[in-house]
Amino acid sequence: MALTFDLGTPVNTALFLYILYSVQRIILPSTSKPSKVPHEFKSGYSWMPKTHQATVMYKVYTPKTLQPFNGQDGGRILLAIKGTVFDVTAGRNFYGPNGMYGNFAGRDASRGMAKQSFDLEMLTPIDQPLDKLEDLNGMELDNMKGWIEHFTNKYIVCGKLVENDAI
Ligand code: HEM
Repeated sequence: MALTFDLGTPVNTALFLYILYSVQRIILPSTSKPSKVPHEFKSGYSWMPKTHQATVMYKVYTPKTLQPFNGQDGGRILLAIKGTVFDVTAGRNFYGPNGMYGNFAGRDASRGMAKQSFDLEMLTPIDQPLDKLEDLNGMELDNMKGWIEHFTNKYIVCGKLVENDAI
């Protein structure tokens, strides 16, 4: 049986026009810009956030300038281990005001990480020289290195910690 395509019938004409339109959309896709920039995904695929994401700047901190980043005000939370400052804001449950490790927020956490203790005496007062960690034994140093690895993999390295009078 021979198949014929009669453009004369209304159904075939409509089908033909639809195919033409679809092929034209593929070959010449619409490049017109939306009148309003969409700000959410459901408004279109090419959307832009309302504001640029906050960027994390690598900075030099001292014990005194690090301390305000303790999350008490709901802001960013930073902590340092062996001179490296990590942005641990994403771990607010751990380091926020009610977090189990909240003592480390805004502080040099090296000794506590090495000795596996979040007691206050692990922290060096912020107006004193940095903890040299010279008395730590091999196991404690390894423990601290393990935490540095954990933090490097999980959080953003955002600075280094130096003595108060260094900057
Ligand atoms: C009472 C004993 C402790 C319990 C039950 C406990 C429990 C936990 C749990 C459940 C996690 C989350 C693990 C995960 O989701 O990956 C965690 C993480 C952690 N713990 Fe403990 N912990 C204890 C003691 C300590 C001590 C003494 C320290 C002191 C250094 C410590 C430091 C940490 C740190 C730094 C993390 C990683 C948090 C992060 O990823 O930001 N923990 N702990």
